[in-house]
Amino acid sequence: HGRVRVHFTPAARDIRVPPGVTVFDAASWNGIAIDSTCGGHGTCRKCLVRVDDGTIPVSTLDVRAFGADQLREGWRLACRAHVTENLRVEVPPLVTRPKAATVGVGRQVILRPAIQKRYLELTEPTLADQTPDLQRVLGAIDDLEPRADLAVLRGLGATLRSSDYKVTAVIVDEVLVAVEAGDTTSRCFGIAYDLGTTTVVANLLDVSTGTPVAVRSALNAQQPFGGDVITRISATMLDPAALDRLRALAHETLDELTREVCADAGVEPHEIYEVALAGNATMVHIALGIDPEPLGVAPFVMSTRAFPEIMATDLGVRVHPRARAVVFPSLGAYVGGDIVAGLLASGMDRDRRMRLFIDIGTNCEIVLGDADRLVATAAPAGPAFEGASIRCGMRAADGAIEVVRIRDGALELGVIGDAEPAGLCGSGLVDAVAALVDAGLIDPSGRFVSPDEAARVAPALASRFATWDGERVFALHEDVVLSQRDVRALQFAKAAIATGWQLLLAELGVERGDIQQVLLAGSFGSYLSPASAIRIGLVPKLPVLRVVSAGNVAGEGAKMALLSLRERAGAATLLEEVEYVELSDRADFNDRFVDLLAFP
Ligand code: FES
Repeated sequence: HGRVRVHFTPAARDIRVPPGVTVFDAASWNGIAIDSTCGGHGTCRKCLVRVDDGTIPVSTLDVRAFGADQLREGWRLACRAHVTENLRVEVPPLVTRPKAATVGVGRQVILRPAIQKRYLELTEPTLADQTPDLQRVLGAIDDLEPRADLAVLRGLGATLRSSDYKVTAVIVDEVLVAVEAGDTTSRCFGIAYDLGTTTVVANLLDVSTGTPVAVRSALNAQQPFGGDVITRISATMLDPAALDRLRALAHETLDELTREVCADAGVEPHEIYEVALAGNATMVHIALGIDPEPLGVAPFVMSTRAFPEIMATDLGVRVHPRARAVVFPSLGAYVGGDIVAGLLASGMDRDRRMRLFIDIGTNCEIVLGDADRLVATAAPAGPAFEGASIRCGMRAADGAIEVVRIRDGALELGVIGDAEPAGLCGSGLVDAVAALVDAGLIDPSGRFVSPDEAARVAPALASRFATWDGERVFALHEDVVLSQRDVRALQFAKAAIATGWQLLLAELGVERGDIQQVLLAGSFGSYLSPASAIRIGLVPKLPVLRVVSAGNVAGEGAKMALLSLRERAGAATLLEEVEYVELSDRADFNDRFVDLLAFP
């Protein structure tokens, strides 16, 4: 279950995905547009790609879609092409100007962006026609009735007169935000931000076609204040100046990414008329300069669920000066706007299947249900997955061991960037523990077995056990070990998560086997090996194919908000639909938690 690499041309992007993911999903999660009108369901036969290095087996649909020559040349339907080895894939240019875009977990979004442009050829004023400038513009827009603000009026006269009264009106959600000289209707952009505690992602979109044109990510510059939301909140409680500092750092990160995606795509910042942002409640509060302290202490209260009108400048990003910002509302202090966006992107409230959504991180959000009813909770998983508190823990960066398996009694490692191993990231930790449990080197209670037992069950690996500073460790590599305490930390994390989904199952009165799909979300969850997650009991014991990585769904939800007013409204509906279950005051939490510490 190592990661495989897909190189997309002509985008020249290298993407690492868990095997089994389709080329279509791998592309769409990473902002590479593939033609489609069915959203990856195998019915439109538009998602043509050519595999020019590596192989993908021919699917039954491929046989109907292509001739023998084309199949031999490597043509495949991307949504039916499962990646199992390293590949190079050529994506042909989009043929049709799409009416819909594929976003999120195979969601097909009909394009109805808030940003609209209208090219107008106006008649020049005369002594007989002294219609004021603004009325002249507004009167020529026949399908919308925008209102205008003062800022537009300031430059209006000059623009009209210098452009021979040939202008483009830019309307965002019923507000005339700009009047531009000439025909600029082909330039309509927005940016979707995913403001994570650790990582921040910016997706630049052409909102008139739904096409992602550039994507960049960076570490949140707030990192030095601590790895999780609690340390950031504490910082603001200890030092009154910290909130301003943290806000400035969030703004810097967002603005830096903005400049990068614009440069990548050759887009001028002023051509971005709207942005959308998904983030957890703490990140959003801080970015907007709202004191996050009440989020960090019982009874965990937010300033608001949905925010009043926000401008892009309130987020510190330099785009069009009158660009608006759509900020995802939060369900609760610990089920934030990132989760609302993720639920939107995965269509949790529309799917008839019983599905379990788990966003894994220091704070783990869990949602269970179907179109009839959704329940959500948050489980404190601790920092194990982020690498903090893990003896040789590190973030998922070059040098991190991300895959560990034992085959024919021998240890195999997968290292990010094919570098010399420097540490263990979250997915490597889960893999390592799953592999050692499976090999009988960790007993069900989580203890490393005795040297004698190790020599008996895995003779080739027994010598990897050692003692470091009085603690037993298992050497994965010369300087990278898994310690007994690391195993404990992971046990606590997985028990907290499993307690969460068990209580939600009880809440809905459904059985584990009723779950049709488990979506592993978030920057960490998406890289987790489903088999290992099942092995250690982090997710319910189900056939491995029912457990899928969902990619960066928060960012996808933010894209959807830019592309469709209807989906944007859907995010607000989700707030009403999802019932929040508080775990911390449940009498049965501790009993279950203790039971779930063991490995199944
Ligand atoms: Fe429609 Fe593949 S996306 S057939």
